[in-house]
Amino acid sequence: MDVRLAKAEDLGRVNELRKQVNDLHSEGKPDVFKKGFSQELQDYIKVIYNDPEQKIAVAETDGVICGYAVLHHITKPENSVMYVRDYLDIDEFGVDEAFRRQGVASSMIAFIREYAVNNGFHRIELNMWEFNKNALAFYEAAGFSTYRRYMEMFI
Ligand SMILES: CC(C)(COP(=O)(O)OP(=O)(O)OC[C@H]1O[C@@H](n2cnc3c(N)ncnc32)[C@H](O)[C@@H]1OP(=O)(O)O)[C@@H](O)C(=O)NCCC(=O)NCCS
Repeated sequence: MDVRLAKAEDLGRVNELRKQVNDLHSEGKPDVFKKGFSQELQDYIKVIYNDPEQKIAVAETDGVICGYAVLHHITKPENSVMYVRDYLDIDEFGVDEAFRRQGVASSMIAFIREYAVNNGFHRIELNMWEFNKNALAFYEAAGFSTYRRYMEMFI
């Protein structure tokens, strides 16, 4: 398996994987996520691809792209409460259903760690939705730990 940065010709396949993640989110948190995979959402991959602060990583096995991640350099200036924050955010992350539990996501995390080291990042961050227990199990197995929580109450 090879993990590398995406080329323009990979974006159509990346969108197929993004649709799987979007479907999972709209089923798991339907009060927040819209069903379907709109043209606007599909086109947004080009905005990501052309943004110098973002990178798309893809995992490829036997010529098939089976996983993808969107990496985003975030910088937040110091304010009266917080120090400067500068980190690599994993904005989107997913492995094709047919390729799960084969180490694809683990290989992508290894690539992202190396990318982070080579680009001077000292911290990788991501956020995930609480219903997504499979993702939590994976991220914890990969070495991430929870440092902040969002809570809600319906009234
Ligand atoms: C979460 C996800 C990325 C994991 O990808 P993957 O390629 O299957 O993960 P790996 O094969 O590298 O798993 C490595 C380890 O993580 C843990 N793990 C992964 N998936 C798990 C699951 N569904 N349940 C429990 N543990 C899991 C296991 O410890 C696993 O090692 P093992 O297979 O030897 O037991 C994949 O299930 C996925 O794409 N899910 C849908 C999209 C999604 O939730 N994306 C994240 C949105 S924030």
